[in-house]
Amino acid sequence: MSNFLEVVKERRSANKFIEGIKIPKEDFIEIFTDLTLAPSAFNLQHAHYYVAEDKNKINEIYEASYNQYKIKTSSATIIVTGDKNAYLDASKIYEGSKFLGIIDNSEYEFMINMIHDLYERWGEEFKHDEAIRNASLSAMQFMLLAKNKGWDTCPMIYFEKDKIKNILNIPENEVPVLMITMGKADKESFRVRGYRKAVSEFVNFI
Ligand SMILES: Cc1cc2nc3c(=O)[nH]c(=O)nc-3n(C[C@H](O)[C@H](O)[C@H](O)COP(=O)(O)O)c2cc1C
Repeated sequence: MSNFLEVVKERRSANKFIEGIKIPKEDFIEIFTDLTLAPSAFNLQHAHYYVAEDKNKINEIYEASYNQYKIKTSSATIIVTGDKNAYLDASKIYEGSKFLGIIDNSEYEFMINMIHDLYERWGEEFKHDEAIRNASLSAMQFMLLAKNKGWDTCPMIYFEKDKIKNILNIPENEVPVLMITMGKADKESFRVRGYRKAVSEFVNFI
């Protein structure tokens, strides 16, 4: 698939996947490489991905997600997290830009100070919101890139956050934002797309 609108229209939340299909590593690498182009606040790239393909691991996730059957059928179950401390790595990211000659030293100093000051002044709620916001945008791009490669997905939130953190050894500073099940959708369990609001119901031109 390469037509953007076609990808957008064809993406559906899968109800169930065809079992026993392996996602080639190259597909993951290409998807994640293109995913690096997703936007993030101050380019801090808050999103992290934990990709479970092992059946035992997927079963553990299934049990920590209220036994939602589709997880068991997925080729991969992925947890997307957002790092509340992403701002602490600003220097690493901006050093890259300085090295490439995109910014000079004074711009570098200005950005690092501004980012640290903002995240520390606006505090825990802002760090948490940032984790959710940035990981959500990344996850949406991930699902479209997966569809572009012929893979189906389903975004999911119905899981026990602390259990999932334990199972996947997710560090304290990362918020589990979304689970994405991935594989080839079983067309037998295809559902008609749910009602969508009319544009006038959710858009206000001021
Ligand atoms: C944040 C979020 C959480 C969701 N959580 C679940 C979930 O826990 N289980 C599930 O089966 N589907 C879940 N979905 C999928 C929605 O039900 C689905 O996107 C919606 O019905 C629209 O269908 P479509 O994606 O096929 O267009 C979730 C979707 C989003 C965006």
